[in-house]
Amino acid sequence: MPIHEPQNYAISIDEVRNLFQLSTQTSMLLIDDEDKLLLATDQILKSTGYAANEITQLPFPRLFKVRSSLGELYAYHFHGDRDVREWPHGFLQGKNGEMQYYQFSMLRLQQGGKLLYLLIFKNNEENQSLNLLQRFSDAFLKDINLGVLLISLDFTLADVSDRACQMLAMERENILNKSLDDIFASVPSQHQLVQRSILTGAIVRNHAVSWTNNRERFELLLDSNVLKDSHGKIVGAYVIFKDVTNLRSLEQMVQRSDRLAMIGQIAAGTAHEIRNPLTSIKGFLQMLHRTFGERGMGKEQNFTDVMLGEIDRINALVNEFLLLSKPKHVSYESTHITDVLRGMVPIIHTEAILYNVQLQYESLKHVPEVIADSELLKQVFLNVCKNGIEAMPDGGVLTISERVDTIERNVCVDIHDTGSGIPMFVIDKIFDPFFTTKDTGTGLGLSVCQRIIHDMGGTIRVASKGFGTTFTISIPYT
Ligand SMILES: Nc1ncnc2c1ncn2[C@@H]1O[C@H](COP(=O)(O)OP(=O)(O)OP(=O)(O)O)[C@@H](O)[C@H]1O
Ligand SMILES: [Mg+2]
Repeated sequence: MPIHEPQNYAISIDEVRNLFQLSTQTSMLLIDDEDKLLLATDQILKSTGYAANEITQLPFPRLFKVRSSLGELYAYHFHGDRDVREWPHGFLQGKNGEMQYYQFSMLRLQQGGKLLYLLIFKNNEENQSLNLLQRFSDAFLKDINLGVLLISLDFTLADVSDRACQMLAMERENILNKSLDDIFASVPSQHQLVQRSILTGAIVRNHAVSWTNNRERFELLLDSNVLKDSHGKIVGAYVIFKDVTNLRSLEQMVQRSDRLAMIGQIAAGTAHEIRNPLTSIKGFLQMLHRTFGERGMGKEQNFTDVMLGEIDRINALVNEFLLLSKPKHVSYESTHITDVLRGMVPIIHTEAILYNVQLQYESLKHVPEVIADSELLKQVFLNVCKNGIEAMPDGGVLTISERVDTIERNVCVDIHDTGSGIPMFVIDKIFDPFFTTKDTGTGLGLSVCQRIIHDMGGTIRVASKGFGTTFTISIPYT
């Protein structure tokens, strides 16, 4: 049991210093009632890593964290006639930030008119194992690989690891003890890392989620569980996540190329089969169209117009399909990108006018020639520019600029729009065949472009930061 100590002992600092010198194995601290640290035993220096002259420069609360002031602790635990309920405890913080749990006893001393507190730390087996636990949870929170969120019952953030702060792009002080609803307020609910249901015991294991902090995108593998007290009552929850971005992007690349190959096979197999019957349907429809005209059947003739229009749409789709499977008539030759773009500008301009979009074309004087099929290149530029224009339904500016990357030896074309931008959550999908957010889109535009540029040994990349989008098409030159 702790010692019962109602009175103040009158004592000089030198006497305490002598006591400290004799007690080499005991952890003790002498503090005045203004939280100034006066003395520490060697054992304290050993366990914190501070030198004697360093430690006395520290404000006491930096070194030892207790839940209230020393005066209050003393009054609660040691003063008066009451039975002492429990040992007070606190955390001793080492020079490297590591925390150690200690229970302690207190003496109140008097020197001159001042009150001093002598803290004597308890050092037993139980303490050691608590230290180990504390050390483990500290290491967990500092682990450079693991994101950890500790959640209280009221859905506030009780603690967070350094890595989690990095991934969330948030400062620890700004989010600690805040409601998770507020912390993730700007994120759509299905993309939030933590849902309220976590506190009802919804256990998650190896759940793959994408997380974007507006600067970087992470692929995370997430585990979560509740924390229960000894009676099985839920007292909080935790989420642990690991950054597996590299692994996942590799996996996605493999999946995408698998999918492209599959689409290619299906396309090659079926496109011709679709086109042949279409040709005869179209022929007969044209005949009907004429006949209806001759017989003055205007309404029926209009129907055939609609049908012919739809057939043209199917034809265009099938043609794109055919391009997805290896293009058949490619003719790679030395090509001037500037010439290709110059030829395209009037067509893009016509489209731009429809949307009240301004077109800017910034060409370069000397652009190295690339080996490419100029017809296919035109298709790529047209598709990407069309997307840019369609992203600006209320007008804007579409800028096409040429650039030479002499380091990577690429001719690049940047196509920038001032449109709505692409949400981070869909940006990975836009090159997938059939991915579209448009009512009348096929979602084939960009996958065809990617195929064409890929076959020329180039790349097509996208950057979109919430406002505006830039597609960069890079083609190698020799
Ligand atoms: N510049 C852009 N700004 C915003 N979103 C874009 C942009 N370019 C592409 N996207 C998004 O990518 C999706 C896929 O584009 P893609 O060109 O493959 O198909 P689509 O334009 O929807 O259909 P189609 O090209 O057949 O008309 C679009 O639906 C759109 O959501
Ligand atoms: Mg498109």
